[in-house]
Amino acid sequence: MGSVEGKIALVTGAARGIGRAIAEELATEGADLILCDVKAEWLAETAAAVQAKGRKVVCLSADVSQSASVNAAVTEAVEKCGRIDILVNNAGITKDGFMARMTEEDWDAVITVNLKGTFLFTKAVGKIMMKQRGGVMVNIASIIGLIGNAGQCNYAASKAGVIALTKSVAKELASRNVRANAVAPGFIETKMTEVLPEDIKKQMLAHIPLNRFGLPRDVARVVLFLASDDSAYMTGQVLTVSGGMGM
Ligand SMILES: NC(=O)c1ccc[n+]([C@@H]2O[C@H](COP(=O)([O-])OP(=O)(O)OC[C@H]3O[C@@H](n4cnc5c(N)ncnc54)[C@H](O)[C@@H]3O)[C@@H](O)[C@H]2O)c1
Repeated sequence: MGSVEGKIALVTGAARGIGRAIAEELATEGADLILCDVKAEWLAETAAAVQAKGRKVVCLSADVSQSASVNAAVTEAVEKCGRIDILVNNAGITKDGFMARMTEEDWDAVITVNLKGTFLFTKAVGKIMMKQRGGVMVNIASIIGLIGNAGQCNYAASKAGVIALTKSVAKELASRNVRANAVAPGFIETKMTEVLPEDIKKQMLAHIPLNRFGLPRDVARVVLFLASDDSAYMTGQVLTVSGGMGM
C-alpha cells in the first residue's frame, strides 16, 4: 500500500465509527492526525489510539455545518501543523422518514451537515491545498447517493450532492495537483446503523452478495488507498465499498 508516512491528515467526524477507523488506519500507515468533531469531548479515544501508534494528534471542536466553526478549526489546524496534506470529509447524519411525512427541518438538517458541511471544509482546506500546490481529498458519500432508498430522500440527495461536489472540485483543482475522490459505503456496522430495526437489517443483508455487513475498517482501507500515492492517477472517482450491494 502506498505510503502516507509523514503526511498530515484532517478527518471530520473522527470521534467514532468510520471516522475513527479512518484516523486509526492513516496513523497506522504513518500520518499525523487533526481530528475534528462537533462532539470534541468524544475525540479522546481516537486521539489515544493515534498516539499509541506513535503519531502526533491535534483535536479540534468543529461543527461542519457552521462556516465560522469550520474556518476557525482550519486556521487553528494550520497554525499548529503548518499544512494539511489529506482531508477526509466524513462527518454525517441521518434523519430518516418517508418523503410524504418528512419535515422541512429534517430535510435541512441532513443537507446542511452532509452536503454543506462537505462544501465548507472543502473550500477552507482547498484554499490551503491550492497554495501548497498539492493535496488529496476523500469524501464519504454513500451507496444510497447512487441508488436512492425509500425513507432516506434527504440523505440520498445529500450524498448524491457530495458525489457531484467531488467531481466538480476534482475538475477545478486538478491543475493545482489536488485530487478529490469519493467513497460510497454500503451498510457499515456503526452507531448510525445500530439503531435500525432488525427486520430492516435482515432485508438489507439479503441484498449484500458478500453476505455480511461492512466494518468501519473495510471503508478505512479504501480511504487509505485514495489518500495515498497508489491512487495518484485517480481523481473525481467514486469507489463503492458495499459487499457488492447496488451493483
Ligand atoms: N454506517 C453506514 O452504514 C454508512 C454507510 C454509508 C455512508 N456512511 C457515512 O459515513 C460517515 C460516518 O458515518 P458513521 O456510520 O461512522 O456515523 P457515526 O454516527 O457513528 O459517526 C459520525 C460522526 O460524525 C460526527 N458529526 C455529526 N455531525 C457533525 C457535525 N455537524 N460536525 C462535525 N461532526 C459531526 C458525530 O459526532 C460522529 O462522531 C457519514 O458521512 C455517513 O453518512 C455511513
